This record gives sequence, structure tokens and C-alpha cells, in this order.
Amino acid sequence: MNLTYKKATENDLPIISFLAEKIWKRHYVDIISGEQIEYMLNKMYSLASLRDQMQNGHQFTLAYFDGSPVGYMSLSTRDEKNYFLHKFYVEVDEQSKGIGTQFLNYVISSLNDPKTIELTVNRQNFKAVNFYFKNGFIIREVADFDIGNAFVMNDFIMVKKIKK
Ligand SMILES: CC(C)(COP(=O)(O)OP(=O)(O)OC[C@H]1O[C@@H](n2cnc3c(N)ncnc32)[C@H](O)[C@@H]1OP(=O)(O)O)[C@@H](O)C(=O)NCCC(=O)NCCS
Repeated sequence: MNLTYKKATENDLPIISFLAEKIWKRHYVDIISGEQIEYMLNKMYSLASLRDQMQNGHQFTLAYFDGSPVGYMSLSTRDEKNYFLHKFYVEVDEQSKGIGTQFLNYVISSLNDPKTIELTVNRQNFKAVNFYFKNGFIIREVADFDIGNAFVMNDFIMVKKIKK
């Protein structure tokens, strides 16, 4: 599979915002309300918000399949050992083909001596939970997060211990 990757710069943020709009509006329709999707897209994927995240240490990476952008992810860390996976998305029509697994392994291999990766995932998002289990994550905690506008994220906190 001809997958290539690019560490994103501010010039790439419109691609990430565009991909997010496409993926979220197809993937989350069965999981959260349309209003919550719009609210979260504005909150986390406006160019201003993405620029702010990037300036606050979120490292964005884009994945390309045969030269076309098919996925994006972002990570941050406070200690270059323990990482938080903020975003991890693959185009809906390209899912379940092994792209996500390769993308995750590529990003982990690009980290210098990582110990753990942690993330939050919606408890209804079973396909992603299955993916994370398949890739060595476990559920560490059940947690609900108030994200404003009376919206709450009902999540699992999952973590992967990385053995190098
Ligand atoms: C989660 C995600 C990044 C995984 O990437 P991917 O390229 O689909 O994953 P892979 O093909 O490497 O792994 C496939 C495994 O993931 C799970 N999975 C992923 N997509 C699935 C789907 N559409 N239906 C069922 N299982 C799915 C299954 O466990 C699958 O294993 P299988 O092929 O043995 O059934 C991708 O599916 C995605 O972007 N989903 C929508 C957004 C999302 O939920 N992101 C995570 C937010 S925390």
C-alpha cells in the first residue's frame, strides 16, 4: 500500500479542516447529534483553533494514499515520554484497509523513546475502540467531559504502553 506521511505545517491546516468536516459528518452521525458535530467542528477544527493547537505543541501529521490526503492525527507531550493522541482520523471510504494501523505504527516509530500514548474515545464509537484494542490500547478509565453548550463527551480513556 503506497502510504506516505507529512509533518503538517500551518499551510496544511485547510486540508486537515476539510478532511475533518468530511469524516466527522459521515462517521459521527450515528454517535452524536448534528448540533454537537457542528459545535465540535467549530471548536476544534476552525483554522484559528487548529493554528492555536499547533502553536501550543500539538504535532499534526498527514497520511497520503497514492498521493492523496486520506488521514490526519495530532499528538502532544509534556515530557517527550508520555504522549496524548488528540486526533486520529482516516477517510471513511478508506477505513478498514490497514491504513490506520500503518499510520499509528509510523507515528510511534517516529517518536524518540516513548513510554505511553493516551487518548479519549467516545464510548459509542465501538469501531474505533476495537481498532485501539487491536493496536495494544486498554481502557484505563470511564470519563465524561463537559465541553460547553450543554454538550458532554461520554468517553473511555485508553492507554498504550510502548515497548521499544
Ligand atoms: C479509527 C480509525 C482511525 C482506524 O483506521 P482504519 O484505517 O480504519 O484501521 P485499520 O484498517 O488499520 O484497522 C481496522 C480495524 O479497526 C476497526 N475498524 C476500523 N474501521 C472500522 C469500520 N468501519 N468497521 C468496523 N471496524 C472498523 C476494526 O477493529 C478493524 O479490524 P478488522 O479489519 O479486523 O475488522 C478509522 O477507522 C477512523 O478514522 N474512524 C472514524 C473516526 C474515529 O473514530 N477516529 C478515532 C477517534 S478517537
